[in-house]
Amino acid sequence: MCGIIGYTGHRPAVPLILEGLHRLEYRGYDSSGVCFVQNKELNVVRAKGKLTALEEKLAGMEISLATTGIGHTRWATHGEPNESNAHPHKSFAGNLSLVHNGIIENYQETKKELLAKGIQFFSDTDSEVLVNAVANELRPGVPLLEAFAAALRKSTGAYAVALLSPDEPNTIYAARHSAPLLLGVGMGENFVASDIPAFLPYTKDVVFLEDGEIVRITPTTWEVFSLATLAPVAKKAQRIQWDMQAAEKGGFRHFMLKEIFEQPSVITNCTASRIQGGSVNVPELAQKPVPSRLRIVACGTSFHAGMWAQPLFEEWAGIPTTVEIASEFRYRNPILEKGEAVLVISQSGETADTLAALRIAREKGCLVLGLCNVVGSSIAREADTVVYTQAGPEISVASTKALCSQMVVLLLMALHWGKAKGTLAPEIMQQAVAGLATLPGQLEETLPNLQTEAKNLAWRFAACKGMLFMGRGQAYPLALEGALKVKELSYIHAEGYASGEMKHGPIALIEPDFPSFILAPHDALFPKNKSNLEEVQARRGPVIALTNPPKPGFELNATHLWIIPEAWGPLGGFLQLAALQMLSYETACHLGNDVDQPRNLAKSVTVE
Ligand code: M6R
Repeated sequence: MCGIIGYTGHRPAVPLILEGLHRLEYRGYDSSGVCFVQNKELNVVRAKGKLTALEEKLAGMEISLATTGIGHTRWATHGEPNESNAHPHKSFAGNLSLVHNGIIENYQETKKELLAKGIQFFSDTDSEVLVNAVANELRPGVPLLEAFAAALRKSTGAYAVALLSPDEPNTIYAARHSAPLLLGVGMGENFVASDIPAFLPYTKDVVFLEDGEIVRITPTTWEVFSLATLAPVAKKAQRIQWDMQAAEKGGFRHFMLKEIFEQPSVITNCTASRIQGGSVNVPELAQKPVPSRLRIVACGTSFHAGMWAQPLFEEWAGIPTTVEIASEFRYRNPILEKGEAVLVISQSGETADTLAALRIAREKGCLVLGLCNVVGSSIAREADTVVYTQAGPEISVASTKALCSQMVVLLLMALHWGKAKGTLAPEIMQQAVAGLATLPGQLEETLPNLQTEAKNLAWRFAACKGMLFMGRGQAYPLALEGALKVKELSYIHAEGYASGEMKHGPIALIEPDFPSFILAPHDALFPKNKSNLEEVQARRGPVIALTNPPKPGFELNATHLWIIPEAWGPLGGFLQLAALQMLSYETACHLGNDVDQPRNLAKSVTVE
């Protein structure tokens, strides 16, 4: 999604804004731009493509005097990704400039009205309509704050916006509705941005804005108002714990690789405050009743986390659990029973479909639990109870450590509820706690080997047209995740399948240059996976079996055995997951793809 940063302070604004935009690159974009105020004039510079194109344009310009400005990375929604559709957009009269993330749904109607008044447009965007709508409200004697609010009240849809006027050269106005926007509070400087990393080198004091709030910042002041009434809203800045290292690559070639390698410490962080005295306690769940049924709703990788955890809620806590894709759930009037809780899972906490599902569940009177990574995100704020995954900032578009953290916390939640209900066998608690204590070390030791093996496999299979990933039980959602990762990073078509479903269709794909990755850990389903593997080999398809060190009764004969250490019960999934993540990473590197910002994708999908 688009990235926004606004700065007003004592430093040269343009280099700082460019640096902030680089930190927001992970959100995905296809054009960018800045507007800075210099000599009481608005200067807009925009470019198609990567930020380097914008930097080249700015290189020869006099920008050093500007200490206030706004910047934007655009992920095209209305109109193709070209320079005229790039932000910032100026009003027709040239007296306002605006950057926008989101979609103004009623912009066509507003555009008609403005055209009738002689306003001309130079882009296909809803955002240019919005800046002109603000200008249209700006009559003599009407303060800009009021004009801005009036235009926003008439707009429907989603927005995070920042606005500049040369008449108030050190002031930025901003507002949000269903799109992320934060305020960063510094010493003699203030910021607005889509995400914390944009201003993290300068301040850790953050004000989380709510929908329906509008802000005004100058270098030394920040004020928040209600959009509806313009009454001041009392807010406090919170000091966040992130450090710069968490938002930097730290010597790794890509954020994705760094984030894969962070998973051992993510597991430690997620369990630290939730395991004490050999038992699990998730404090966030303590004040809420144990649900009689659980409905998990999420998108993409977060959906796979829910699928992975489903059997744990059923087996350990005796809670009937279903898992649904948020974009389906929101449009099918689901029946939710009394006592049923809806658990929405989202790394970003801003995914539009997941947020809509949450709102439906609330309307239906359900207890809504949120499992989020981003503190203060929309889902975190709107859920009745939020459990944070504590994975730290995930910058790469491909979700890796976030999934790892979701799996850990979901497993802890199942143990917590199982204990609360008395359905959990004490030895499961003991084994889980012991296993979680050794898992980070085991994973840390294994990760370098996984990378070496993944690199070899990438060399061997990166040229293939398609791949099949198969698993059973809890390995099935991991097979789906393996296929999703290969698709999004390598652009190779990949299918994730339940191994038992293979003979119902996908077996027709098998041929000598079509690799099948089969997840065959040493569990009760091993013999079943073994038969599936043999079926593929009988049709001369290469099989890569992701399995545990050989032992009697668990022999496998595959084209390639990818041996990973064995771990207790569901914990083996963390090693399988890391192997699949490495495979997709190395395949994408081998193909020379943009690993951290794969084509057409955005980190947080805040529009439908
Ligand atoms: O922020 P969320 O967890 O709600 O995001 C959901 C999906 O958009 C996300 O997991 C997506 O599938 C990733 N790109 C997968 O790597």
